[in-house]
Amino acid sequence: MTLKVAVAAVLPESVQQLLSRQLEATFFPELVGSPDKLVECIDGYDAVIISLPAQITDSVMARLPESVKIVATYSVGLDHIDLSAAQARGLVVLNTPDVLTDAVADTTLLLMLGAARRVTESIALIRERRWEGWRPTQLLGSSLTNKTLGVLGMGRIGQAIADRARAFGMQISYHNRSRLSEDKEQGAKYFADKEAFLNQLDMLVLACGLTEQTRGWLNRQTIAMMKDSAMVVNIGRGDLIDDESLIEALSSNQLRAAGLDVFSNEPDINPAYYDLPNVFMLPHIGSSTIETREQMAQILVDGIVQVSNGQRPVNQV
Ligand code: GLV
Repeated sequence: MTLKVAVAAVLPESVQQLLSRQLEATFFPELVGSPDKLVECIDGYDAVIISLPAQITDSVMARLPESVKIVATYSVGLDHIDLSAAQARGLVVLNTPDVLTDAVADTTLLLMLGAARRVTESIALIRERRWEGWRPTQLLGSSLTNKTLGVLGMGRIGQAIADRARAFGMQISYHNRSRLSEDKEQGAKYFADKEAFLNQLDMLVLACGLTEQTRGWLNRQTIAMMKDSAMVVNIGRGDLIDDESLIEALSSNQLRAAGLDVFSNEPDINPAYYDLPNVFMLPHIGSSTIETREQMAQILVDGIVQVSNGQRPVNQV
């Protein structure tokens, strides 16, 4: 039996083909951001694949046709889905863990280097044809070697970031809900206390999910716990940061620099970021490689098929 799946996502051609080969997939690219309309078009479907920026709220969930048993999100993040409403309705939620870990960890190192090595200013200098040639004083950044990286959220992605940062000669600390086993820590130092964690870091990477506990985690109070001239990188979700506080700290050089791939209210980000030379920004490309996009689709297909066969897939939330 081929499963009928509604796909409310704009996807690369090869990913659409992959889905069409393995499922009876119908694409609703025009309804990506309109789950309210989508629910009216998918009676008789077994599952729905959604993607950002759709918000799958309690009320959207309540209006899903009876036939839909699975909501699969084409993302690892889950903050756009009301999970308790899904549970109350007996819906299975699937996401895309693991397959994007390496791509996101790679992007994190790009952000770390972009912030530390003044890449925003460097690109502007050369592209605006203002460069006057090599000078010993030109655009001096900060080395990563021998610095301390602090990872907030030492899950799969946090651990992959730590692996890469070790290769750059960094020491790793982390703050998490709980301490990891030694084999996962790989020498990283656990800090249960937020202040003790923050005040010894040279660079903070936010790699946790967005929950009510982590929303606004980086704010005026937590920034005040950091060393002067420390750097911040955000690969998680924009709302982990209180923008006003970060912008103030970067404008006054209380913090040296930031590398940001995610923002509050994407794509209408706080405009003050555009004017800060010490911010290296990317437009949420953390997992944007073609290989990763195909693997994200495959893990959802496998999960949908397994749930339909009465099994519990690894990516069931
Ligand atoms: C992208 O941000 C994702 O959650 O996969």
